[in-house]
Amino acid sequence: MKCRRCGARAVAHLRHHNLALCEECYSPWLQRRVRETIKRFHLFDRKAKILVAVSGGKDSLALWMILTKLGYEADGLYIDLGIDTEKYSQRSLQYSRAMAERLERTLHVITLQETIGKTIPELPAARGTCSVCGLVKRHYMNTWAIEHGYDVTVTGHNLDDEAATLLSNVLNWQLGYLERQAPCLDEREGFIRKAKPLVLCTEKEMLIYCMLNNIEYIQDECPYSVNATSIFYKEILNRIEHEIPGAKLRFYSEFIKVKHGIFKGFRKERLTPCKICKTPTTGEICAFCKICIAPPKPQHSIRETSRASSGPVRAKIEKSGRNSISSKNMEIKTGSKKEV
Ligand code: AMP
Ligand code: FES
Ligand code: ZN
Repeated sequence: MKCRRCGARAVAHLRHHNLALCEECYSPWLQRRVRETIKRFHLFDRKAKILVAVSGGKDSLALWMILTKLGYEADGLYIDLGIDTEKYSQRSLQYSRAMAERLERTLHVITLQETIGKTIPELPAARGTCSVCGLVKRHYMNTWAIEHGYDVTVTGHNLDDEAATLLSNVLNWQLGYLERQAPCLDEREGFIRKAKPLVLCTEKEMLIYCMLNNIEYIQDECPYSVNATSIFYKEILNRIEHEIPGAKLRFYSEFIKVKHGIFKGFRKERLTPCKICKTPTTGEICAFCKICIAPPKPQHSIRETSRASSGPVRAKIEKSGRNSISSKNMEIKTGSKKEV
């Protein structure tokens, strides 16, 4: 098969675009596609100070390289989650550092063990490890970028990730999540602007880009995501894509086109600053602080509270539980803000 652009031998055949490209033409084509995505969704402007959340995986490392090649000022942020299994976090950090050196850009590193004194596997995971991990990552991508004067945080979510999330949100009719699913979330009080410049690029396209540009990345899946439903949804979407090329892209991009009309007038939850970290939240204390900063309430207190019938006993228990937790948290937070 020949390259559609120059007639040389094609190395990539993209059925969903009905396009074949050679080694020379492929990378400029993908870079242009990212540039067009940035323009089309008004993700950020030329002068924006960008923080790329890099995981050591192919998408975020390639994104960092593409943005740099396109002439953007982009630094990296790696969150060391302390996942020990086969040195997952350590190896991911090494790949991220290698890219920082190659691009001659700064890589900031936050180490959970040093900021909150715990690693991801050590945190209570009632909602599942991946869910807690996502929460922690979102927290730092937001607060860290704000505290260090960045204009926007970008992540390497690709089309396969977004289509799988969309499928999950539709299957469960998660209207709140659907309303927020977008290539870009604007900056607002307490939240940095967040953008996903790879939303129109498939996993396969990113993989080819990494191969052609000699990008080394962590190839293992995170040990905690082995049974994640998102992997199952991706497989289903790939089967559909195999039969109907372009279905994945249409599924996502048509949703983005119509969603504004669907959610017009949709009532958003009222948010107030978290009492500990100030990030806007629906309750008094945000989910991050509840899990990572606040120690769990003593079990016996909870049992006794529900049994207690007399006023004074109840008041005493509540005071030694919740109130003392809040003031302790403030101290922990102050000490945990530093860049590592
Ligand atoms: P995931 O949640 O693993 O699917 O990753 C989605 C995106 O989140 C990646 O493309 C990165 O941009 C970002 N990300 C994931 N893990 C980390 C991490 N440990 N540190 C910084 N950014 C991350
Ligand atoms: Fe967070 Fe896997 S990367 S649990
Ligand atoms: Zn908080």
